[in-house]
Amino acid sequence: MVTKIKNILKEIKYWLATRRVFKPYFRYVLKQLGSHHRNSSRQKYSASIIMQSHVIEKGLSLKEIRPGYGVPKILKLLDDLSTYYKIYQDAEVLYFSLSIIQAYLDYNRGIGVENEEIQAKFQRMWDLLGKEDLPAELRGGGVHLRREDIWKDSRIDYQRFVMARHSIRNFTGERVDKALLDKAFEMAEYTPSACNRQPWHNFVFTKKENIIKVLDLQTGARQFKEDVGALILVTSSANCFFGHEFNQSYLNGGMYAMNLMLALHSLGLGAVPLNMGIAEERLKQIREFCKIPDAELPILLIAVGVISEELTVAASRRFDFRRYTTFD
Ligand SMILES: Cc1cc2nc3c(=O)[nH]c(=O)nc-3n(C[C@H](O)[C@H](O)[C@H](O)COP(=O)(O)O)c2cc1C
Repeated sequence: MVTKIKNILKEIKYWLATRRVFKPYFRYVLKQLGSHHRNSSRQKYSASIIMQSHVIEKGLSLKEIRPGYGVPKILKLLDDLSTYYKIYQDAEVLYFSLSIIQAYLDYNRGIGVENEEIQAKFQRMWDLLGKEDLPAELRGGGVHLRREDIWKDSRIDYQRFVMARHSIRNFTGERVDKALLDKAFEMAEYTPSACNRQPWHNFVFTKKENIIKVLDLQTGARQFKEDVGALILVTSSANCFFGHEFNQSYLNGGMYAMNLMLALHSLGLGAVPLNMGIAEERLKQIREFCKIPDAELPILLIAVGVISEELTVAASRRFDFRRYTTFD
């Protein structure tokens, strides 16, 4: 009888804890629903434009490209671009989308398919920018490759690389070279994201007092916080997702954070991921200290440092993949 009561009390305690944990999540879901309309912020509007552009762009990467595909979608995109540019004068997003439409027009012209309405609207937007041609790095559309081109760089000894990564909790205490951090961010840009929306943001701390302040609030790095050379808080914006895409922000942000960790690893830096699934009150304090806008969801804190010459890492033994992988 006593055991039964104890078990019921345990269940109630667990239920209450779950409610506490899920409260901020439900608040976030409601918030996302509340700001569903794409015009409600610049970020939401630009995410919608990038999504629409990507639909056109990926059409150019298919084995069979349908001649003149997606006309209504492109016309709508051009209208949205016009409104967006009028409100925000954001030339980067305009370039981003127009370069994709340009590639679409070039492809179709090449196979003898013309659309005057798209061409006219495109030209009007293009003239607005007053540029002769797009810089190469901003060009969108399709990139033709041979399998060999991919294999030349992809067939590296990834197993060795990935097995040499460990969560490092033993740093020299030296500063981390800013050029190395920039290089890691540059590599992490290549993280895939839903419709190429790239919802992430990095809040970077390099000043000792700031690093310690944030780590004190997170509490997972108490024993080595003094030696951390740089701290990166990766967040991901709820503004980049719509309606039913509730988990997308976390998913895309998590993938970015992992890629960033691997990039740091490739540069010889040590890194340890630190949990952001922490009590709401402490999360609030971190938000305030880092001046994180409401729509940015904390994904992961990454403590970075110069690896000590000799150190011990946790073995963190892995389960055999057969334990959790099933084939048909
Ligand atoms: C989301 C996440 C949160 C983590 N939080 C902490 C943390 O707060 N403190 C810490 O020392 N390690 C933390 N870790 C590191 C894990 O303990 C470590 O990744 C795991 O044991 C696997 O070991 P490895 O990274 O060396 O392969 C975290 C890892 C992840 C992915």
